[in-house]
Amino acid sequence: MPALVLLGAQWGDEGKGKATDLLGGSVDYVVRYQGGNNAGHTVVVGDQKYALHLLPSGILSPGCTPVIGNGVVVDPAVLLSELSGLNERGVDTSKLLISGNAHLITPYNVTLDKVGERFLGKRKIGTTGRGIGPTYADKINRVGIRVQDLYDESILTQKVEAALELKNQLLAKLYNRRAIDPAKIVDGLLDYADQIKPFVADTTLILNNAIDEGKVVLFEGGQGTLLDVDHGTYPFVTSSNPTAGGACTGAGVGPTKINRVIGILKAYTTRVGAGPFPTELFDKDGEALRTIGGERGVTTGRDRRCGWFDAVIARYATRVNGLTDFFLTKLDVLTGWEQIPVCVAYEIDGKRVEELPYSQTDFHHAKPIYEMLPGWTEDISKAKTFAELPKNAQAYVKALEEMSGAPISAIGVGPGRDETIEINSFLS
Ligand code: GDP
Ligand code: IMO
Ligand code: MG
Repeated sequence: MPALVLLGAQWGDEGKGKATDLLGGSVDYVVRYQGGNNAGHTVVVGDQKYALHLLPSGILSPGCTPVIGNGVVVDPAVLLSELSGLNERGVDTSKLLISGNAHLITPYNVTLDKVGERFLGKRKIGTTGRGIGPTYADKINRVGIRVQDLYDESILTQKVEAALELKNQLLAKLYNRRAIDPAKIVDGLLDYADQIKPFVADTTLILNNAIDEGKVVLFEGGQGTLLDVDHGTYPFVTSSNPTAGGACTGAGVGPTKINRVIGILKAYTTRVGAGPFPTELFDKDGEALRTIGGERGVTTGRDRRCGWFDAVIARYATRVNGLTDFFLTKLDVLTGWEQIPVCVAYEIDGKRVEELPYSQTDFHHAKPIYEMLPGWTEDISKAKTFAELPKNAQAYVKALEEMSGAPISAIGVGPGRDETIEINSFLS
């Protein structure tokens, strides 16, 4: 039985939540391995719509154990409010497991995210303001606070004091803010400790045992390949590794245990926040994609930037993640265009380039080279098999598959669980 990674192949918001939820009924564990409540995953079950930020999308499937891995950053206030929001709607969240090694997002990390962005001015990243970058920075600087620290007041106090020593200098002298009292932070964190305690576990041991016993484990990425701190459009990225390797470090599972890596790929492209985006549209087509696709951020409510499909990015996602499959989402949104442009390569300083350039300067100069594919007008949202799609929609999918370097094993034709065409099973 497989261990699978499911991740975003573009700049996030590809429909990972829906894809995870779809598989949730057939898997034993769904594990978040990086990121935090910067994610916004919309899952539609029947007539119910859920917006999840921190919790794994598998939490909506009763048989599935949701896990927050060591690589995730956890805002305890968000965790508890998301849990109580689900409980009020009748969702049982009691099976949740949280790694004791996951780092906590503290109020000062949120403050530093916001003032840091303000300080950058027009060079800002456009972060979600949830404290993600500063919390990962503390982790790497070895002044982070972990979930397990909630259960040793003396260690927690020492760590918060150490973390705030430099930050208070920064806040007061550079950002013109009031210094933060470590004791207040410690008290605030300790208030959450008892409520979180039942969920805290040695998740690495549990997950490795589960895989060894033949259980099905799904690792659910937040964000996307091009937002990866190593492989994305740095510095316009998030501060973690959404790419496949992140599942290993962020959950404590070796690469030899992973059988399948599924890239979630939107049939066009979107991006939130700042940074280069070669196929971005500023015309009525961009507006139409935004309106028809409902492209508004689940976390921040910001309008998403929209553009045509970019096969250079899809090929890159196949390469850096070792993708075995794609799940193509939102094909229904493209219904109605007479012709659909697809970016097949870039022109950079007069030269045709087929692969994503490693140089930031080159990527900023990349102009899309488009191929026009014929569109379709028939409603495809009820299609259950590939053969039921109009011929031109079939050809669009086949062309994308050819250009992107991995088989398209499922196609989304609407937001609901059942609005999916399954071509190859992910679980065989
Ligand atoms: P995530 O962050 O990758 O989980 O994606 P988001 O939830 O932020 O954004 C994807 C949006 O598209 C959500 O509103 C989903 O309900 C919706 N969605 C997912 N798959 C499909 C699809 O195949 N067709 C349509 N029309 N909507 C979809
Ligand atoms: P899901 O999981 C889209 C973007 C932000 C910003 C950059 C850094 O829903 O796909 P951060 O707050 O992480 O430091 O912001 O990353 N970003 C996302 N964009 N979808 C997301 O998550 C994102 N999470 C972060 O807009 O450009
Ligand atoms: Mg999202």
